[in-house]
Amino acid sequence: MYLTYYGLVRSPFEMTPDPAFLYLGEAHREGLATLVYAMKARKGFVLLTGEVGTGKTTLLHALLAQLDAGTASAFLFNPRLEPLDFFRILFDELGIEERCTTKAEYLLALNKFLIERLAKNLPTLLIVDEAQNLSPEMLEEIRLLSNLETPTSKLIQIMLVGQPELLDMLDQPGLRQLRQRIVLRHHLRPFDETELAAYVSERLRLAGYTGAGLFDRKALAALYEVTGGVPRLVNVVCDGALLQGYARDKDRVGRDLVMEVASDLALLGAGRPAAPTNGERAPMRAVSATPARKGWFGLFRRAEDRG
Ligand SMILES: Nc1ncnc2c1ncn2[C@@H]1O[C@H](COP(=O)(O)OP(=O)(O)O)[C@@H](O)[C@H]1O
Ligand SMILES: [Mg+2]
Repeated sequence: MYLTYYGLVRSPFEMTPDPAFLYLGEAHREGLATLVYAMKARKGFVLLTGEVGTGKTTLLHALLAQLDAGTASAFLFNPRLEPLDFFRILFDELGIEERCTTKAEYLLALNKFLIERLAKNLPTLLIVDEAQNLSPEMLEEIRLLSNLETPTSKLIQIMLVGQPELLDMLDQPGLRQLRQRIVLRHHLRPFDETELAAYVSERLRLAGYTGAGLFDRKALAALYEVTGGVPRLVNVVCDGALLQGYARDKDRVGRDLVMEVASDLALLGAGRPAAPTNGERAPMRAVSATPARKGWFGLFRRAEDRG
């Protein structure tokens, strides 16, 4: 690989939400601050939205790393569940051992658990990632959970995190009650050009790069053009550009390499099977729409439309 060639000690553009690579530009700083505030102020029901790959899951991991030791949290990242499975997993995550078979039993046991925690002033958090995949039935279960409260306090903090279509879902007339319970919302935007440049250089630095300007100014402008500042796409294109740069013996990445990689990825999405790097699955939307065929192409088009 290109690591030694560019004097790197680890891979700079991995597709994992590795907290060691956390970069907090304004967008992500604001997003994280909102989540932290929601927890501190025990805000009850919170919504975090953002396009695929903008860094929502990364922020959740950053939040979990910051929580007080006393916090019990359940992190659900595959919310395509039947209510009973949901409760089973929730109990497992929260470490509730009571055996239940019906929903009513689960709710009763959960209520008891939460009241005991509140008495000790210990917060409990439920995070539902990819919440745009929740069924109407599951949304209703979650609304019922958000009803668990004492006259003075919420018993559980709930964060619904997902793609912008989550907002459309919540706008449906039948979900008015749920919507009214949401006390804090944040929409995570992609990087602007300044953040993108800082992000790229920060990742390179953390990966051991000691030089300056591995991606030149025009390359960074091109990166913004083709990715719209979406971190996940930035990672894919940067990784590809470094690989190409190494293959061609270039000590710098310029605009041409970035454009070439972007165009290759677009081609790849239009015909050949999508092969995400580093074993990471392709973005949810690409997968769930039409696997392989739309793939990256759709994403690049959207990025270009925006830019
Ligand atoms: N603030 C950030 N700092 C470092 N890396 C980030 C940041 N935001 C996103 N990334 C990178 O982009 C990838 C995609 O982000 P992710 O959190 O999975 O997006 P989402 O959940 O919104 O689809 C992450 O795996 C991570 O590598
Ligand atoms: Mg995510």
